[in-house]
This record gives sequence, structure tokens and C-alpha cells, in this order.
Amino acid sequence: MTARLIRGRLLSFRDAPKGIDDTTSYVYEEDGAILTDNGIIVASGDYAAVKGKAPADVVETDHRPHLITAGFIDTHIHFPQMQVIGSYAAALLEWLNNYTFVEEQRFADTAHAARIATAFFDELVRHGTTTAVTYCSVHKTSADAFFTESHRRNLRMIGGKVMMDRNAPPGLLDTPQTGYDDTKSVIESWHGKGRQMVAITPRFAITSTPEQMEMAGTLVREHPDLHMQTHLSENRAEIEFTQELYPWSKDYTDVYEHYGLLGPKSLFGHSIHLSDREADAMSESGSVAVFCPTSNLFLGSGLFGLKTLDERDNPVRIAVATDVGGGTNYSMLRTVDEGYKVLQLQGQRMTPLESFYRITLGNARALSLEDKIGSLEPGREADIVVLDACATPAMALKMEAVTKLTEELFLLQTLGDDRAIVETYVAGEPAKSVL
Ligand code: GUN
Ligand code: ZN
Repeated sequence: MTARLIRGRLLSFRDAPKGIDDTTSYVYEEDGAILTDNGIIVASGDYAAVKGKAPADVVETDHRPHLITAGFIDTHIHFPQMQVIGSYAAALLEWLNNYTFVEEQRFADTAHAARIATAFFDELVRHGTTTAVTYCSVHKTSADAFFTESHRRNLRMIGGKVMMDRNAPPGLLDTPQTGYDDTKSVIESWHGKGRQMVAITPRFAITSTPEQMEMAGTLVREHPDLHMQTHLSENRAEIEFTQELYPWSKDYTDVYEHYGLLGPKSLFGHSIHLSDREADAMSESGSVAVFCPTSNLFLGSGLFGLKTLDERDNPVRIAVATDVGGGTNYSMLRTVDEGYKVLQLQGQRMTPLESFYRITLGNARALSLEDKIGSLEPGREADIVVLDACATPAMALKMEAVTKLTEELFLLQTLGDDRAIVETYVAGEPAKSVL
């Protein structure tokens, strides 16, 4: 792979910002550059200093005056829901039964899965997302289609074959044994192949029998290095139904706890209506609550109390995600914009620094992948986005009034989408401009 020198204004987080004036939480270079080689960042910082380290045949791209950050990370998205997005439903369970479970059955067809996988990665790259933790469908072949395309593009992706063996149409059910066997087979084929990573993926407690939940727990014990992803406490009717299916449980979180599914590699989509006891259990186990604002608003699921979870004595780890197709946009910019508004409704605030931290280093930390992705430090994989805060006439006009970095970030968050992504580099190679 070519050595590249990527020039522009650099922004890279070192830590979670403590407030809007916390300049120690990030590194900013007005005339900066990143030197990449073999898919890795080998140097970053002041342009002249970094250029001094570059080989004579380096390929140089000048993105000035654009802003360069680490690639965005989406911690919860459903690849078989690209044609479900924007489906008119009152709430979660109706949406699942009337649209989602109907559409996901089409992924038994490998040609359909392959076509959607191509569209999926095109869309992520177009929106500056370079890593996504993804639900495939119940069909093992959907995971094969997902990873084949991701591997071909050299993307760092996490994906899982969904396990579900009840409360859905027959075309969407596995069994405790086939769910286990197919997950094992996907792990053997794909985990650690290039940049691919497999997540153990029981869809949620409602669509798994206790026998399948046991099997999911076995997989987690057998593969402690793998991520586990599921849904938790998204909707009141879902919580009630779960309580009926697992009458012995203290609460929804207790169901997952019982089967050994809590832990530092465990990602719980939504986690909106948690009791104090549940938040304690999440915190003590190091589990991650995944905030999906556009989905929570679209399905009327509820308001995620980000600051309530983050500022308690024993905080809960938090990630942010689109949750397409319950979510309504692929853009992590649109996602934090809606997240900001969800917090506003609760008298909570999220600074623009925190927004950009969360979609880069914050999400990398939530995935325990901060040694690989999420910042522009030397040694990290060269997944990079180039942002233009003047991408539309309305943005350019507002930009005339912007005097500070935090204002530019807030403008990108409030008005930005895929049009603000000038380029997406995947392992050091331009990926958006070649789409
Ligand atoms: N709960 C179980 N499955 C799903 C899904 O596909 N989307 C959302 N938003 N919630 C779920
Ligand atoms: Zn989801």
C-alpha cells in the first residue's frame, strides 16, 4: 500500500472532554498532516514535522481548509434493514412484526444479501463511518455476505449472525443448536480474518428461548474476547412481554445477567428504561449502554438519560449508534444532533466536543478498541474522515459567523450529513471519492 501524507486541520481526542473549554482533552493542529503507511498512521502532527518523516515518493493530498478526524464509529446498526428504514409504525413490536421480520426473511437469498451488503458499505463510507457493530439476519449466509464485502474493502467491521428461535416467522428462526453451530462457523470463517471481528448476537430476550439464551452464554464463555450484542429495555411493551417470558427475573437486565451475558465486551442497544438496580448491574459488569437517538425518537421508545447514567457514583459505560433501520439516518453527525436534542428535553447538555469525542474515541473505548481506532495517534489504523463545514450554502453562510473550533463542530453536528464528508480513508486509502 502507498505511503500517504494527508494534510489539513487535525482534531484528535485524547480523553473525554470535561466541558466546552476543555482544551486538554484533544489535540488540534491548524496546519497538520497524517503520514500513513501500510494502513497504519505512522506520524501525525505539525505538517512540516510530519513531512520531514515522509519518504520521497509519498503521495500527498492537501485537504486544507477542511477538518480531519478519526473515522466515525457506529456501535449498533442492522445491515438487513436498509429497506426497512422509514417504515410507518407506532412502536417497536408492531414495527418488528409488520416490517422488519418480513424484510429480514429475504436474506435467505444470498444474491439479495450480497446486493444489500454492497449498498450498506457504500452508505457507511459515504457518511464517514469506518467501523460499525452490525446485526446481520438469522441466516448464516447473510453474515458471509457481510464479511465478504467488508473484507474486500479492508474495513474494520464487527458483525454477528442473529440468534432467534421464537416469536418471529418460521423463515426467521434457528434453533438453540443451529444458532450455536452457525455462530461457531461464522467465528471460524471470519473472526480475525484481516480486520473482521465477529460478535455473538442473540437478538433480544423475546426472540430467544431459555435454551438459546443458555447457548448464547456458552458462546460468550467460550469466546471471552468476542463482543456480545443484544437489545435491552427499549420499549415499555417489550419490557412487560420479557417479564412474562422470564417470570423468575428481577428485571430485564437480570435475564441477560442470568445467562452470563453481561460484561465489558457486551453492548446493550437502547437501555432506556433502566432501574437503579439495572444500572448498577451494568456498571459493575462493565457493560455498555448504547444510545440510539434517531431510533428512540422515531419509534417513540423514550428519552435516554445519558447524563444520568454517566454521572452516577458508579457510571455506566455509554456508546452512541444509529440503529438503522429503526434509526432514521446513517450519519453519526445526524445521530449526535438528535442525541443533543434528546438531552435538551431532559435538561441535560452535551457539548460539541463531547459529541465528536463520542463518535470517535468514545465509541472506540466502548468497544475496547482504542488501541486500534478512534484517534489519529501514531500506531492507530488509518481510518480517517475529512469534514467540510461549508458543505451546503446554508452551512457556508453560518460558517461566516463561526470563530471557534467548538462552533464549527456544533455547526457540523447541527447541519451536517453525508454532504459534509469530503473524503473517507479506510486503512489509509481513499474510499469515498472512488465510490
Ligand atoms: N429489538 C429487537 N430487534 C430489534 C431491531 O431490529 N431493532 C430495534 N430497534 N429493536 C429491536
Ligand atoms: Zn437494533
